[in-house]
Amino acid sequence: MISIAVLASGRGSNFDAILRAARQGDLEAHIAAVVSDRKEAPVLEKARAAGIPALVIPPSAPPPARPAPPARERGAPPAKTARAYRGDPYRDEKILELLAAYSPRFLVLAGYMRIVTPKLIEAFRSPRGYSRIVNIHPSLLPAFPGVDSYGQAFRHGTQVAGVTVHLVEEEVDAGPICAQQAFSIQGMKSVEEVEKRGLEIEHRLYPETLKWVLPERFDIEARERRLCVCPH
Ligand code: GRF
Repeated sequence: MISIAVLASGRGSNFDAILRAARQGDLEAHIAAVVSDRKEAPVLEKARAAGIPALVIPPSAPPPARPAPPARERGAPPAKTARAYRGDPYRDEKILELLAAYSPRFLVLAGYMRIVTPKLIEAFRSPRGYSRIVNIHPSLLPAFPGVDSYGQAFRHGTQVAGVTVHLVEEEVDAGPICAQQAFSIQGMKSVEEVEKRGLEIEHRLYPETLKWVLPERFDIEARERRLCVCPH
């Protein structure tokens, strides 16, 4: 059984999907703890109801010691967004402290609305070179990184939207891609419609992908300056 911690900021529908898969025995994972940066996040109540430790990152984070590098250099979302959600090594230090008692092998981000810093990534770095932090992003990366990605796709007028599961690296929404699924949004009339269909896909794709990502049943290939995940 692979021990994981889920990091989430909000509603927790992906947490529900992962928990269901684990409880049904479809996913060999033990959710050791759920961690949130928002004490009022509904995901925490869901965790408590499931008997899983629900941990809150202390809010007293001082501002980062030095300003974040320019968003463009890091492939980060637009400056305004990057400021709102920027990474904070202090916060990541607190996460490590909270999780010390649980020793999870993987961190599973499920609607965690903060950028993680090298502090956290390096603490979960595998000897094979990739991070053992997984994220689900509501677009076909590298299209539409950042926030409100279903909205970005809808407003752009794309014909397909999609979902990506990827390993987390310092560059925002740019780590090695594990799995993607596209879906047609032609004829959809609102962002809500896109999101509803997207979430249905997320709730299947995330547990399915974790089935082989958590036991690390993949090879890593270096292409250009990237690591690529090849499932086997
Ligand atoms: C999902 O769309 C996920 O892809 C994105 O944030 C949303 C979280 O939803 N990262 P929930 O909290 O899992 O319901």
